[in-house]
Amino acid sequence: MVSRERVRRAYDDLADVYAAQRAVDGPGMELLGEFVDTLEGPTRILDAGCGQGTPVLERLSESAMAVGLDFSREQLRLAADSVPGGALVQGDMTALPFESDSFDAGVAYWSLIHVPNATQPAVLEAFARVLRPGGRLLVCDGTTDWAGENPDWLDSGIEMSWDIAGAATTRDHLEAAGFAITDAWGVEDTLEADGAGYQRLEPTAVADNDFPWTFFAATLEE
Ligand SMILES: C[S@@+](CC[C@H](N)C(=O)[O-])C[C@H]1O[C@@H](n2cnc3c(N)ncnc32)[C@H](O)[C@@H]1O
Repeated sequence: MVSRERVRRAYDDLADVYAAQRAVDGPGMELLGEFVDTLEGPTRILDAGCGQGTPVLERLSESAMAVGLDFSREQLRLAADSVPGGALVQGDMTALPFESDSFDAGVAYWSLIHVPNATQPAVLEAFARVLRPGGRLLVCDGTTDWAGENPDWLDSGIEMSWDIAGAATTRDHLEAAGFAITDAWGVEDTLEADGAGYQRLEPTAVADNDFPWTFFAATLEE
């Protein structure tokens, strides 16, 4: 079973390796542009599991008051360079250390997949608490459920582990937490980006898509 403490230490230990291999463009960023375009007015937005801050937190900071949260101190050290003067908080996304109704929007790029499956509903409930009614959320998950480790992730010699609930389960968790799904997309892997593709999906049909990753945009019900 995935251990949050082991994941946190692994992200500390491979911070530079991950940052060097994280593609800074690709379909995840096109979706982020579409998502940001749906936000109105001055926006306070939370990036949970912000990692090294590129490209997601950096992009959000261009148009919003963005707050990056991560439990890895080394990832936050890199994020401080990527987003100088940015608001960064060390904390766990399963218990977001923010007041209720304090954000207009939230995103979680490739971070939910490291949270133990049984705790993932708590992450989405935490988002529902810190977002204002009508707030917007963009999250991604693996399309197919899978749990396991890679003992030498990114040729770093460091073990990384994942607990992927799968798109259908995450859709159900979002709805149970009070979110109405507005959009879904299948997305290629941005660690192997070659201008890779993405495709809009019917939220009811996310489990059938052939892409490895599924993104959801959702609105917190008023
Ligand atoms: C694959 S990286 C993604 C980083 C960034 N969002 C991106 O798109 O490149 C996953 C990040 O989630 C963070 N993370 C994983 N589980 C977390 C948790 N329970 N609370 C806070 N951060 C977490 C890790 O430390 C890591 O920085």
